[in-house]
Amino acid sequence: MCGIVGYIGYEQAAPFLLHGLEKLEYRGYDSAGICLNDGSELIVKKAKGKLEELEKLTDYGKNIHGTVGIGHTRWATHGEPSDVNAHPHLSDSCRFAVVHNGIIENYLQLKEYLTAKGVTFRSKTDTEVIAQLIEYYYQGDLIDTVIKVLSKLDGSYALGVISKENPDEIIAVRKESPLIIGIGENENYIASDVPAILSKTRRIYRLENNEIAILRRDSIRIINTDKDEVRKEEETIQWDIDAAEKGGYEHFMFKEIMEQPKALHDTVNPRIKDGRIVLDEIKLTKEQLRQYRKINILACGSAYHVGVVAKYVFEKMLRIPVEADLASEFRYRDPIVDDKTLTIVISQSGETADTKEAMKEAQRRGSHVISIVNVVGSAIATESDEVIYTWAGPEIAVATTKAYSTQLAVVYLLAIYFAEMLGTITDAEYQYYLKELEALPDKIQEILDHEENIQYLASQLFHSRDVFFIGRNIDYALSLEGSLKLKEISYIHSEAYAAGELKHGTISLIEEGTLVIALATHEPLIAKTISNIEEVQTRGAYVLCLACENHQEVGSVAQSTIFIPQTCDMMLPSLAVIPLQLFAYYVASLKGCDIDKPRNLAKSVTVE
Ligand code: F6R
Repeated sequence: MCGIVGYIGYEQAAPFLLHGLEKLEYRGYDSAGICLNDGSELIVKKAKGKLEELEKLTDYGKNIHGTVGIGHTRWATHGEPSDVNAHPHLSDSCRFAVVHNGIIENYLQLKEYLTAKGVTFRSKTDTEVIAQLIEYYYQGDLIDTVIKVLSKLDGSYALGVISKENPDEIIAVRKESPLIIGIGENENYIASDVPAILSKTRRIYRLENNEIAILRRDSIRIINTDKDEVRKEEETIQWDIDAAEKGGYEHFMFKEIMEQPKALHDTVNPRIKDGRIVLDEIKLTKEQLRQYRKINILACGSAYHVGVVAKYVFEKMLRIPVEADLASEFRYRDPIVDDKTLTIVISQSGETADTKEAMKEAQRRGSHVISIVNVVGSAIATESDEVIYTWAGPEIAVATTKAYSTQLAVVYLLAIYFAEMLGTITDAEYQYYLKELEALPDKIQEILDHEENIQYLASQLFHSRDVFFIGRNIDYALSLEGSLKLKEISYIHSEAYAAGELKHGTISLIEEGTLVIALATHEPLIAKTISNIEEVQTRGAYVLCLACENHQEVGSVAQSTIFIPQTCDMMLPSLAVIPLQLFAYYVASLKGCDIDKPRNLAKSVTVE
C-alpha cells in the first residue's frame, strides 16, 4: 500500500524513479510524485491519477534534473487523491521532502501543535506533519532531527527523506511498513519492494523496525534510534527479472492465472521426498501437536478464504476444532486463544497490517504461530514462529490468483502431514492424498487449456448486474473467493452464500435473469445443492454450475455447466477456483475494467 522509491548516484535520478514507481504501481495508483535535489533546491512534480500523468508532466523524467531523489505512488488514506495530497511532501520553507507509506495515528495532535507555532500546512495528509516536524526541529544535524521526529510519531511508517541542506544523502526509516535498501556501484536505492530496483541490482538489505539507513553515493550506514551501528546481512535476490514482467500477456492477472501449474509444482514437489512429505520448516513434534485443542486461522481477504477452506479440511482430517478468523476482527475481540491453540497465519505479502497485528495478539496469548507466506523475509514470515513459504513467485496483479492457489496447496500439505502425525489417516489414505496433490498442476493445466469455454460464457453473461455464488461445505468456502474475484475486478455486485442459507432471506433478491453461480463439486452434498439450484431457477435465476466431470447429471439441471477434472474432495477448490478466476478475468475484460489495478484497491494492505 503506497510505493516508495529513492535514488542517489551520479546519473539523472528521475527516469529511474519513474521506472521504479511503475514497478510499484500495484501498491497504489491514485497519484504519484517525485522530488529531486537539483543542486540548489528541491524540485517536486506530482500528479493525480495513474503514473502516466506524472510521466507526461515530467516528459518521462527529462525535464526534472538531479542525481538524488525520492518518489511515491499513493493509495490515499488521509486526504482525497489530488495533486496537493500526493507525495512527496515538502516542509514549509521547502528545505525537506518526505515520502511515506503507513499511517501517522497522532497526526492531528501534531498538526495542531505545529499550526499553533505558525506552521502552514498545504495538504490534508498525515505525512505532511513529518516534513514539517523535521523542519521545526532541525538544528543542523538531519539524523538527530529524524530520530527526534520519530520519537513524536505514533503509527506505522516507511519513510524516505531528502533535504536541500544535505544534497548527498537520503535517509530511510522503517517501522511496520516494508522498506528495502538496494546496494549498487557508486549508487544506492530505497524501495518498498524488490521489483522497483531489480533493473539495477539484486543486492539488498531489508530494514527492520526502527532502523534508519543513511544512503550516500558510495556508502550505506544503518543505525538504530540510539544511533548504534546495525550490522545487516546482505541478501541476494534470486528470482528472475522476467518474473515481475508481463512477458507478452496483456495483464499480470492472466499471466499469473496461467502460472498456477508451475507455482503449485514449485510449492509442493520439493516438499515430497521418496513418497513422504518433508516439511523441514516445521519443528513441531507429535507430542506438541497432540496438545493443541484448537487451530486458529488468521488472514484477510482471499487469504482468509483459504482459511475457510482450511477449516473444512483440517476439521475433517485432524478432528480438531478450527476457527477461521478475519484478522481485523480477531485482533480487537479479546479472543480465546492460549498455548493450547495452534495459530496459522496466511498472507501473500507477509506485510498485511491486520494479519500481522492479529498474529502478534495470538503470540502474546501464548499461541504458537505457523505462517504461510509468499514474500521471503517479510514481516509476518520473520516474526512468526515457523514459516512455510509458497513458492508462487512475485504476484503483481492486485487480485490474487497464484498466491491463493499455492496457499491452498500448503494447507493440503499441512493437513496430510499433521494427519499422519496424529494418526487420523491410514497409510493408504496418506498415499492417495499425496498422489492427488502431485497431480493437481496437470489437472489445472487441463482446465487452462480449455479456457476458451469460460471466455465464451463470460461473453454471454458479462452484462449481469448482480451475481450470487452458492455452494455447500467446501464449495461454500470456494464461493467466497469466486465472488470476491468477480466483484473486485469487474465491479459487478456479487455475494457468496451457503446454498442452504439462501432461503433464509437472500432468495428474495432472485428475479428473472439473476445470475447464480452454483458450485456443486462436493460429492456428498451434490443432491442438496441441486435442490437449491432448482429453488433459484423456479424464481427466474440463470444458473451457471460448476461440477466434476464424473457428475454429468448436474449438466442437465443448470442452464450452463463447467466441468472440472475429478480429485479428492478436499482438493477440489484448487481446480474449481481456476474457472472462477478466468470467468472474473474475462467479464472484467469485456467490461473494459482496469484488471491489474481495480479502482480503490492496492496490493499489500499495510494500513488497518
Ligand atoms: C484479493 C486480494 C486480497 C488479499 C488480502 C490479503 O484478490 O488479493 O483480498 O488476499 O488483502 O493480502 P495478503 O495475502 O498479502 O495478506
